[in-house]
This record gives sequence, structure tokens and C-alpha cells, in this order.
Amino acid sequence: MTGSSQVPREEGIDNSLSLLREGYMYIPNRRHSFATNVFETRLLGQKAICMGGEEAAEIFYDNEKFIRNGAAPKRVQKTLFGEKGVQTLDGEAHTHRKKMFMSLMTPEKLEELKSITTKQWAYAAEKWEHKEDIILYEESKQIMCRTACQWAGFPLEDGEVLERTKQLGDLFESPTSVGPEHWKGRHSRKKVEKWVEEMILQVREETMKCSEDSALYTISMHRDLEGELLNIEIAAVELVNILRPIVAIAIFINFTALAVHHNPKEREKLKTGDDQYTYMFVQEIRRYYPFFPLVAARVKKEFTWKDYTFEEGTLTLLDLYGTNQRSFGRMLIYSSQKGSLTGREVHLVLCLKEAEII
Ligand code: HEM
Repeated sequence: MTGSSQVPREEGIDNSLSLLREGYMYIPNRRHSFATNVFETRLLGQKAICMGGEEAAEIFYDNEKFIRNGAAPKRVQKTLFGEKGVQTLDGEAHTHRKKMFMSLMTPEKLEELKSITTKQWAYAAEKWEHKEDIILYEESKQIMCRTACQWAGFPLEDGEVLERTKQLGDLFESPTSVGPEHWKGRHSRKKVEKWVEEMILQVREETMKCSEDSALYTISMHRDLEGELLNIEIAAVELVNILRPIVAIAIFINFTALAVHHNPKEREKLKTGDDQYTYMFVQEIRRYYPFFPLVAARVKKEFTWKDYTFEEGTLTLLDLYGTNQRSFGRMLIYSSQKGSLTGREVHLVLCLKEAEII
């Protein structure tokens, strides 16, 4: 570890393999062993800054300091996000595109999504009654795929459900895998985008009817800042930015089952049907089991924070996992008192603190 600039710098020509290997714990491990909330490293062949904690999150979402364009690595764009989607936009273009998405999130549309989800779950649960056991993750992906397509206005035959579920699942299951698993994700993205492009074409040529408040119609007919329809590839990427994450909610559904399994008392509380409590419970699931380990951006123009100069264009990663895990903060204080800890010790301390043994 060399500390020539004001922040610790991780050694090594490139540490991408450690990021792939340690995943969620890559940044938290180094935040605690360097006893810092910001450190420098090299990832994907370039200098990168990693940071975490409340203050860092505030800085990261300052659009005067950071841009998203060019931040998400190609392997993430070719699988998870798609290219030229809303996640890669900045400034007015981003605000305009985001408005398109938010126009779909009206109370009526969200109520509709809730009622479709409830019906699809009831339909599936009926089928499960005749089964010995089920794989909840696979079943919930299918349910959320049916829900996403019905809500967004996509016709989906029963015989298509498995194929579309698999393809949409590959998009969020493959970004960090290597070899065949990753290429499956890229292949599925091509398949899904082609399917969606055909739908957009039919809507624009009025050879297929769908309701005007549906995502399919809204995004197919959306006009950019120049008043032009989105080119069909980008419109398809944005529609997949609706379908894919709804299917991805299956992961939170499984974390919910896990949390109820680990905390049986919660099951009783949830049964009371108190909406406020259910809402808090869901927020805790999102905090305790965050989906994304980190998000990426690039420095918009040079600035200094905590005596450290963020050079223009530098790749910067925000630690979502460590920042959400409050006990990480307490553990940081503990490690700075005791000196650096191994990964195993981190886990041990977290468990002991969770159990309030120390
Ligand atoms: C599994 C559940 C979900 C997770 C874990 C998730 C996570 C995220 C994350 C981490 C971001 C990036 C935020 C950033 O750049 O800081 C994001 C952006 C976004 N998500 Fe989700 N999301 C989920 C579900 C959804 C759903 C259901 C929708 C819509 C139906 C959605 C639509 C979007 C859009 C449009 C953006 C881009 C926002 C922007 O660029 O400003 N997400 N999501």
C-alpha cells in the first residue's frame, strides 16, 4: 500500500480479477483494511477510485462532479444495460429520457402492476398445489416475466414464457460471469432486442394494437429532444430496461423468503397485514440484500474532496453493498482500533456485532 496522494492506493498492475473474485466484498474489504472511505486502484486497465459511505454517495450523485457516459464497462452494456440506454445518458438528454420512464410510473399504472402481479401469483400458486416441490427462484422469474409482459403491453403466449424468462434472466445473471455464461447473456440480449424491435415496428406501422398508456406504446412513440422517434435499437433497449428489472425482482422475492426463513418472528408480523410494516420490511430487504454491489461513473471535471484530487475522466465506483451495511461502519471503527483484519475476521466481527455479542 503506497499513500503518495492523500488516499491509499492498492498495489498491483490491475486488480480486476480480485473484483471478479471478491464481488460484493471487493470494495468493503479494502475500505476496512485501508481504514478509509476512498482509495485508488487499477481496474479494467485503468486508474479507478473506489469510495463508500454517506458522504461519498452524496458526492457520487452530484451531476456537476460525475457523468455516467462511458462509465459502465462494455461487458455490462452488452448484457445488463444495453447500449445507449438511459443509464448512459447525462444532462438534458438524461432528464428527458428519465421523464419517459417516470410517465409510466403513475399511481394508476403502479396499481395496475400490483393487481397483475397478484393475479399471476395466485395463478401460479394454484398450479403449485399439485406439485411435490418447486424451485422458488425459477418460478418467480416466470411469474414476473408474465407480469412484466402483460403490464408493458407485450403479447406473450404460454409456450413462449420459458424462453423469454430464460433470455431476460440471462441479462442480469451474466454481467459478472466469465466464459460461456457471459456469452449466453450477450446472445440472449440480441434475441430479446430482436423480439422487442419487431413489436415496436408493428406498433409504429399500426399492425398491432396496444393501449396508449402501455410501456410498449409510450416508448415506441417517444420523441427525443430533437422531436425524432427513438431509433428502433434504442427504443428496444429502453423497453428491455422495463421488462428485465421487473423479472429481476425475482431475486428480491427469494431474499424475502430467505429473510422470513431466517427471522420467523417477522412472518407473524407480516401476517398482520400492516402496510407500513410491510413497506419497512421490503426496504430492509433492499438494504440488507442489495442487488448491485456497486455503481460506476466518471469524473466530469477535476475537483478535490478530502484533500484528494479527482482527475477528469477517472472511473469512480460507489460501494452500494458496504454503504448499505451499516454494521460495516462500526466494524471500520473496530478494525482501526485493532489494525487490519482478514476477510474471515471481517465476517466474524459482522456476525458477532449483528448478534450484539461484541
Ligand atoms: C430488481 C429490482 C431492481 C434493482 C436492484 C434496480 C437497481 C437499479 C440501480 C442500481 C440503478 C442505477 C442507479 C444509478 O445509476 O445510480 C437503476 C436504474 C434504473 N432502474 Fe432499476 N432496479 C430494479 C428494478 C427496476 C424496475 C422494476 C424498473 C422499471 C420498471 C427499473 C427501472 C430503472 C431505470 C429506468 C433506471 C435508470 C435510472 C436513471 O438512469 O436515472 N428498475 N436500477
